[in-house]
Amino acid sequence: MGRIFSGIQPTGDLHIGNYLGAIRNWVKLQDAHENLLFCMVDLHALTTLPNPQNMTVWTREVAAAYIASGINPEKSMIFPQSAVAAHSELAWILSCLTPLGWLNRMTQFKEKAGKHKEQANLGLYSYPVLMAADILIYKTTHVPVGEDQKQHLELARDLAGAFNRQYGKDYFELPEPFILKTAARVMSLRDGTAKMSKSDPSDYSRIHFMDDPDTIVLKIRKAKTDSDPIAGAPEAMENRPEALNLLGIYAALSDTTMEESCRTFEGAHFSTFKKTLADQIIAAMDPIRQEMLALLKDPASLDRILKKGGEEANELASQNLKEIKEIVGFLRV
Ligand code: AMP
Ligand code: TRP
Repeated sequence: MGRIFSGIQPTGDLHIGNYLGAIRNWVKLQDAHENLLFCMVDLHALTTLPNPQNMTVWTREVAAAYIASGINPEKSMIFPQSAVAAHSELAWILSCLTPLGWLNRMTQFKEKAGKHKEQANLGLYSYPVLMAADILIYKTTHVPVGEDQKQHLELARDLAGAFNRQYGKDYFELPEPFILKTAARVMSLRDGTAKMSKSDPSDYSRIHFMDDPDTIVLKIRKAKTDSDPIAGAPEAMENRPEALNLLGIYAALSDTTMEESCRTFEGAHFSTFKKTLADQIIAAMDPIRQEMLALLKDPASLDRILKKGGEEANELASQNLKEIKEIVGFLRV
């Protein structure tokens, strides 16, 4: 594998969907690869105009979550996106190669803008172009994300191709999505048909990295389920999205398959299963929470790590941006 890049928006408290769909997989990749970059994508977060204090707090919190989950700053570059200006510069160049028709197809924009498309800001609309720039500025080859980001990655591939065609050069490799199957899409604890999301108004819809054990037990106890016992195979629970979601979380945390967890708990009622699930979540997440608390107690040290990550990333990005500017024909003065 060549280069790996991924990022998360500092727009709120991280949840177990971010962990299972993204961060945990990054840690696994780190063991076998070099050249990894993990970003807190604050420019993307700005599309929702968080208040400045929250932006700062959440950026540190996401960084602490990366490190506490096992991203090693000695091996991987961890930095805020805004620390590397080349992302924004390449985004502009790519935006001139983006037909509006491509952006009009993006389902995330449609979801986020909702009925008020005319009031939505331009940043929200061009969000996927900036994401493509994040990826391409490092000539990234693999992007580990959850399933919801698949369409944006397709656009990044299309833009890499559009650039190469426009300038008659094989400059960008097409970046590959890297989406693991188990828990690629963790659903809300209140509604098994909706994605677990930072923006859901209900705190009970998700488990946060910062939830203490009692809160985890309570949230899992309150999680929506049905009164039927667990079936021996996932296919037999097709119309029970909440049941499938909880078993999926269990399977992901225990590194087994859905099939295996269904077999293990066949016939059990959710009241029993939920106790085991809560224990499993606490065992995985509480050490991470403790480490995050320790990191956040010393923001100056944390910021030093991010500064170093930003400097290293800047070096890579500015070299590539120089080449890109030459290809485009900008006069160097
Ligand atoms: P976001 O919170 O939208 O910035 O997402 C950050 C990363 O977490 C991306 O790789 C997403 O694909 C992943 N992610 C977010 N929500 C979920 C979820 N409910 N299930 C699985 N992955 C998720
Ligand atoms: N759009 C991604 C999300 O909401 C975050 C993101 C921004 C990202 N730039 C990226 C992910 C580049 C991977 C690569 O989850």
